[in-house]
Amino acid sequence: MKACNLILILTLLFTLTIQSSFSLEDNTTENQQQYFELTHPLVTNTDTPPSCSVNLLTHTFANTVDTNTSTDTTFTPSITVYYTPPPTTCKWSHAVLEFQAKCNGTTPMHDRVAGVWIAGVELLRTSTAQPTDNGSFWSVRKDVTKYTSIITTQDNSTSFSVMLETLDKENLTGVYHINVSMHFYDHNAFRFALSSVVGDLEGYKKNRKLSSIDGNGVGDMLGLYPYDTHADMIIPISGDVDEGYWFRIENESDVKKTSVRIDQRTYKAVLEMYISSHGDEEFWYLTPPDSYTKSNNLVSGKGKGAYREVLLTIDGKLVGTVIPTPLIFTSGINPSLWKPAVAIGAFDQPSYDIDLTPYLGLLLGDKDHSIEIQVAEGGSYWLVGANMHIWLSNSNVQAIVEYQPPSMEIENDYEFEGLEGEFEIEVERSSSAVGLVQSSFGIINTKVTEEIKFKNKLTFKEQGTRKELDQKIKRKTKVKITDARGSSIVKYEIERTYPLKITAVTQPWYGKGISTVSTTVVQGRSESFSSGKVILRALNHDVNCTGSMLVNGNCVMSGSTENHQNYYYKDGLGCFSRKVNVMEGDVVGDETSSICVK
Ligand SMILES: *[C@@H]1O[C@H](CO)[C@@H](O)[C@H](O)[C@H]1NC(C)=O
Ligand SMILES: *[C@@H]1O[C@H](CO)[C@@H](O)[C@H](O)[C@H]1NC(C)=O
Ligand SMILES: *[C@@H]1O[C@H](CO)[C@@H](O)[C@H](O)[C@H]1NC(C)=O
Ligand SMILES: *[C@@H]1O[C@H](CO)[C@@H](O)[C@H](O)[C@H]1NC(C)=O
Ligand SMILES: *[C@@H]1O[C@H](CO)[C@@H](O)[C@H](O)[C@H]1NC(C)=O
Ligand SMILES: *[C@@H]1O[C@H](CO)[C@@H](O)[C@H](O)[C@H]1NC(C)=O
Ligand SMILES: *[C@@H]1O[C@H](CO)[C@@H](O)[C@H](O)[C@H]1NC(C)=O
Ligand SMILES: *[C@@H]1O[C@H](CO)[C@@H](O)[C@H](O)[C@H]1NC(C)=O
Ligand SMILES: *[C@@H]1O[C@H](CO)[C@@H](O)[C@H](O)[C@H]1NC(C)=O
Repeated sequence: MKACNLILILTLLFTLTIQSSFSLEDNTTENQQQYFELTHPLVTNTDTPPSCSVNLLTHTFANTVDTNTSTDTTFTPSITVYYTPPPTTCKWSHAVLEFQAKCNGTTPMHDRVAGVWIAGVELLRTSTAQPTDNGSFWSVRKDVTKYTSIITTQDNSTSFSVMLETLDKENLTGVYHINVSMHFYDHNAFRFALSSVVGDLEGYKKNRKLSSIDGNGVGDMLGLYPYDTHADMIIPISGDVDEGYWFRIENESDVKKTSVRIDQRTYKAVLEMYISSHGDEEFWYLTPPDSYTKSNNLVSGKGKGAYREVLLTIDGKLVGTVIPTPLIFTSGINPSLWKPAVAIGAFDQPSYDIDLTPYLGLLLGDKDHSIEIQVAEGGSYWLVGANMHIWLSNSNVQAIVEYQPPSMEIENDYEFEGLEGEFEIEVERSSSAVGLVQSSFGIINTKVTEEIKFKNKLTFKEQGTRKELDQKIKRKTKVKITDARGSSIVKYEIERTYPLKITAVTQPWYGKGISTVSTTVVQGRSESFSSGKVILRALNHDVNCTGSMLVNGNCVMSGSTENHQNYYYKDGLGCFSRKVNVMEGDVVGDETSSICVK
């Protein structure tokens, strides 16, 4: 049997820390293992050649922990080169970022988080797949059209950076080969990415007319408010390049501040945040409260309970919050579950938007304003980075805000005896912001209301050997933009639901120190964007996995896994669905369809 190496599996879920190497099955793949995340297709280069492509970086990342004095960039966690924009003669309306990676390591490595930036503006937050003996590879394609203003920069000293960070300080001997390129397509190519055009196209077109304030449309059929037209400017709200631009937030009192002075012509502003949790905080949603860990003499410093919230303030005034959706990386919970179909968002982590348009009255005024980001109840550590998207009118803007702080209710219900117990947390956050903006487009009133509901229930049964999580995050956002006469310009609603259920059971097996560990993970992502009664875009992704392992001391002796995923996407151009079934790491079913079902 292979030597045992450290892989963190739900340290929090077990009173003992289970450490494992990969199960033997990892050795049976004939070729390199391809990993993938289910998503809807963006136009591929074989469907339609791009109008032009730019290769931005080819690089090898090796051990990035002991950076020490080495000058070989292979051994540093971040690499920065000059950014190459698309040629000015290239005709395009959509940009796709492609991140390709190959790993040849034979030693178990932890998954690593990675980010891609242009001039400090984050375009992609991703993480790495597990290496296998014969190597592994994967690729991520992301529509980055909303970053057009930074993509087209002609400043030849603009930086392009990629950071690949270790999550845990281990001996990493394998290497990651990375290629990053950008492909540019014209409008028609992009339209046909979803094959059939069905149903609501007329309704979609009609409603889209509503959502473009300056009316030029920029030919983007797929963009929805607030990115129906791309921003004129993007300001990074981020840390130092050496540390990878993202803010590394270590605890609750660790407040990251940036001073920003925005253009006086700004009539619309949106702050986009990328958020991921690592180290002791990777499984924050499975954390019992301090009182439980203390009374049972469990590993300290990991208590706190299962609530975290990222808070955004302008000059000390709270303007928005995010309760982050848990991201399960490829070594998370039971690494065999995620081969080869990874968990939701592992390769293309969704970002969170906070519409600052109603708060422009706090941001304008030709002076510096302090933007602060912190993580309520946060521990070590969180990587948070933000981009402020700014839209400009032709002349200076006057803005008035009716500031009201978001309200919050939090309820804890903890009950336990010994190792058994039930811990429930419920949070309700609601905010309503109204702002008036006078620009060259006339007077515009923006009202944004948001409701966030978070419910987390942890149950520990059978002397703590059976642990269950039942969690739901719901975020409902309404945007209503009216003109001076009160006529509606944009009316828009986004509803997002992220359920997560995890069960882990440990049972003794015959013989000393041997036990079976069974886990199930049921994860969902459901998002709908609508205007009036018309659904402009809907996304449903369900993941249902089970895995069992025979564990001897700290080693996995054998295991068995299943991973079932359903993905359904619909927008005004068509539908796409994909159903994937994986048994023991092999894809046994993979069906795609372009039939609209709901
Ligand atoms: C690696 O691939 C080779 C050739 O395809 C195969 O013979 C070998 O068994 C594989 N090794 C593992 C460990 O999967
Ligand atoms: C796993 O792969 C390694 C390297 O290819 C090989 O040395 C080893 O014998 C393999 N183990 C099994 C159980 O196939
Ligand atoms: C860095 O490397 C040098 C030379 O290899 C070694 O002497 C030194 O101890 C290292 N420093 C650290 C902090 O690892
Ligand atoms: C990167 O691109 C080069 C040249 O196109 C190719 O040979 C190599 O395999 C690519 N690497 C990855 C990791 O995709
Ligand atoms: C991985 O690639 C590096 C650099 O190309 C090489 O030194 C190393 O031996 C390779 N490892 C394996 C297991 O192929
Ligand atoms: C940028 O362009 C200027 C003028 O064309 C040139 O002098 C300078 O060397 C260029 N800088 C880089 C980094 O290419
Ligand atoms: C890392 O490597 C060093 C030196 O080779 C070794 O002493 C140490 O035990 C290794 N650590 C782990 C966690 O494997
Ligand atoms: C929080 O983290 C910051 C940054 O690492 C550190 O300076 C500070 O001492 C920490 N505060 C507490 C209370 O741990
Ligand atoms: C997950 O799959 C199992 C068996 O494959 C099934 O019994 C269970 O109902 C599924 N759960 C969900 C939420 O789909």
